[in-house]
Amino acid sequence: MSNNQQILRSEVVLEKYGKALAGKTVLITGVSDDSIAGELALQLSAANPKLLILSARAEAKVAGIQDKIKSAKPNVETRFLNMDLSDLAAVRDAVEDLKDVSHIDHLVCVAGVMFPPYSKTKDGFESQLGVNYLANFLLVKLLLPKIRAAGSDSSVVIMASSMARQGKMHFDDFNFSDGRTYDPMVAYGQSNAARVMFVKRLGEKLKAEKIRVFSVDPGAVQTGLQRHCPPNFLDQVDDWKKAGAMVDMDGKPFEIPPWTTSSEGAATLITGMVDPTIADYNGSYLNQNAVSDHELHTHINDEGNWAELWELSESLTKERFSL
Ligand SMILES: NC(=O)c1ccc[n+]([C@@H]2O[C@H](COP(=O)([O-])OP(=O)(O)OC[C@H]3O[C@@H](n4cnc5c(N)ncnc54)[C@H](OP(=O)(O)O)[C@@H]3O)[C@@H](O)[C@H]2O)c1
Repeated sequence: MSNNQQILRSEVVLEKYGKALAGKTVLITGVSDDSIAGELALQLSAANPKLLILSARAEAKVAGIQDKIKSAKPNVETRFLNMDLSDLAAVRDAVEDLKDVSHIDHLVCVAGVMFPPYSKTKDGFESQLGVNYLANFLLVKLLLPKIRAAGSDSSVVIMASSMARQGKMHFDDFNFSDGRTYDPMVAYGQSNAARVMFVKRLGEKLKAEKIRVFSVDPGAVQTGLQRHCPPNFLDQVDDWKKAGAMVDMDGKPFEIPPWTTSSEGAATLITGMVDPTIADYNGSYLNQNAVSDHELHTHINDEGNWAELWELSESLTKERFSL
């Protein structure tokens, strides 16, 4: 397993591997002016893709990014895809809206929420599990024919977080007793553990087809994500850092990632999409542009949990996903 972690700007990764993106069709979720996905879209446009499909739950969210791409790279086509990930019917509708798109070379699922007050998605799931993970499970399932149509070296890249290291699937109470036992951090950790475990199993299943599958820890970037954090959150993070290493679910110490720019936050997503040197590690968890499976804990590494999560996800999304 490689352990050459490096915080890099997106521009640096693109300079090395960006040629592979020319002429490609890329779908990105979570695009807005100040999000990591918005930055990713801007960065990728420099590599001359054919089409960037920019997904959000309101067109106004992507308009600023579209304008910037249009003026810097007029030959790069962009298209808004309306999709609310807190509603599985809306995910299905969004996929229907892509009927005319023959193939998708790269699906990059970045959208997410962190630490919201307890609420449930339209389908009745705790919102972080529903938005951050279950909607992605369904989206990947429904778009896989288009990703397969793109051929080898296409990719599915799923955003995760270092909080996966403190997260596990609460299989017998993933909805936190209808909110009664809800802890926003525990639920965020659960949704990220689920993202990483899903990618592990998907990567294994798609390896023979040479479809790249990776989960990504982007580090720490100040974005809209912190909107549900208490006003003193940044001070609190500083205090945690001063107090020393955190511990994961196995008791293994780890450090809170340093704050970086959004270009640095988006870089590891690009690594997942196109860095040829990690192709043999399909399904892996990436951090700082490198395969970082050594950072994962026992619950996430347990293949029995991957299988249980897959079955649960099929049952919750009412979508059989056999591969
Ligand atoms: N920033 C960090 O330090 C950090 C660290 C680790 C992991 N991450 C992960 O990175 C991802 C992106 O976060 P970010 O930092 O770019 O935060 P952000 O600026 O809040 O972006 C998140 C995006 O997801 C969208 N989104 C939220 N709920 C949605 C829904 N129901 N349907 C469709 N879109 C929805 C948001 O749109 P609206 O504006 O409409 O809500 C927003 O555009 C998240 O998945 C997060 O878990 C971020």
